[in-house]
Amino acid sequence: MNLNLKKNDDGNLSIGGADALDLAEEYGTPLYVMDEDRIRDNYNRINQAFSSQYSNFKIFYACKANTNLAVMRILEEIGCGIDAVSPGEIYTSLLSGFSPDRILFTGNNTTNEELKFALESGVRINLDSISALERLAKLPGAEGREISFRVNPKVGAGHHEHCITGGYLSKFGVMEEEAVNAYKRAIDLGFKPVGIHTHIGSGILDPEPFKVAVNTLMDTAGLVCQETGVQFEFIDFGGGMGIPYTPQESLLDINKFAKEIVALFKEKMYKYDMGNPTLCLEPGRYIVGDASYLLTRVNTIKQSYRKFAGVDAGFNTLLRPTMYGSYHHIVSANNPLAEPTQEIDIAGNICESGDLFARDRSMPDLEEGDLLAILNAGAYAFSMSSQYNSRPRPAEVLVKGGKSDLIRERETFADILSKQNLPKRLLK
Ligand code: LLP
Repeated sequence: MNLNLKKNDDGNLSIGGADALDLAEEYGTPLYVMDEDRIRDNYNRINQAFSSQYSNFKIFYACKANTNLAVMRILEEIGCGIDAVSPGEIYTSLLSGFSPDRILFTGNNTTNEELKFALESGVRINLDSISALERLAKLPGAEGREISFRVNPKVGAGHHEHCITGGYLSKFGVMEEEAVNAYKRAIDLGFKPVGIHTHIGSGILDPEPFKVAVNTLMDTAGLVCQETGVQFEFIDFGGGMGIPYTPQESLLDINKFAKEIVALFKEKMYKYDMGNPTLCLEPGRYIVGDASYLLTRVNTIKQSYRKFAGVDAGFNTLLRPTMYGSYHHIVSANNPLAEPTQEIDIAGNICESGDLFARDRSMPDLEEGDLLAILNAGAYAFSMSSQYNSRPRPAEVLVKGGKSDLIRERETFADILSKQNLPKRLLK
């Protein structure tokens, strides 16, 4: 099995050397538990795979996957850069110690205020449209700034149609055909173009579409070089590297993937005489996805027209099954490798029928009070969470060497209400 699942001597799920049952006892449920070493291992694995093929390589962690400050600090320490998509993500990255030159801002449908914020923060600005270019040019301090463009290479891929960000239906990037003119216009407006970027989608386990995008982007980059004289300092192929969610899915062979991508990159780099640009990737899920578990307790076993195990988490804490129909593996924390004895629906506590973590899931016997662990909750779980049904968001814990730290407190009812104001006339 390719899932990140370890038992300790007591037979319980071990997360970074800590016992999941103890953590649930100490911090309560629902609870996100992050394994620090796993984040470091994931980063090192992908960094090593690419750097060994091409030393001028850099990772920009797509922090939309998980912006917890502790996660950001780990990645800052390790030497990673940041892919930020909003002023909030820029702010969080700066606060976490990333210098502006290590942050690439890739907005989409960006307002003038957001462009101004990015400009004043000193981060690198990756433009998603000619409109953004023209509006950026009108802002004070824009003259002479380094910019890049996100290009849509007409190919997309992803685990769900919502997560495909390249191709004819996608709202992202400038068209391949307008890339040369976009760079020409940027030069005319006094900018210094230094990079080119694409991101075709998320949750990719098949390297083929990614390879097509690499080829297309390199041809576009080559053409821009020839037609405008731009010398690229970086070429960024985005993120999207998938991880297994089901026990049957295989791992992305990252060394093979790196070899193939770098070979395509180098071939075109020499063909177009592009110098020695930095090759960049922007993985989010690959770095944090399997480093976290959502612990949740069964509070209700119910035989209705179907059999349900009701738990104390819901789609407010992990939206992916409801939003994309995504599979997340679920285990009993007191016996994570137990053989299944039944098929059962695992339902959350949100007042919607779509609030199901799993339908007809093969599980061992379950009792009220049992602790479950939902795997792969490191990416797009807390970051897509909400307070729907007025449920405070759970706490987050970081584990290293068996020791745990509370890195985000559980929200309270007061937190949910903290930004509301009653007009005077409605006061009691
Ligand atoms: N770079 C850009 C410009 C992106 O838009 C994204 C993801 C990434 C990098 C990182 O993609 P990753 O390596 O994490 O696949 N909420 C969805 C995923 C949406 C991803 C959006 N953009 C999910 O839960 O699957």
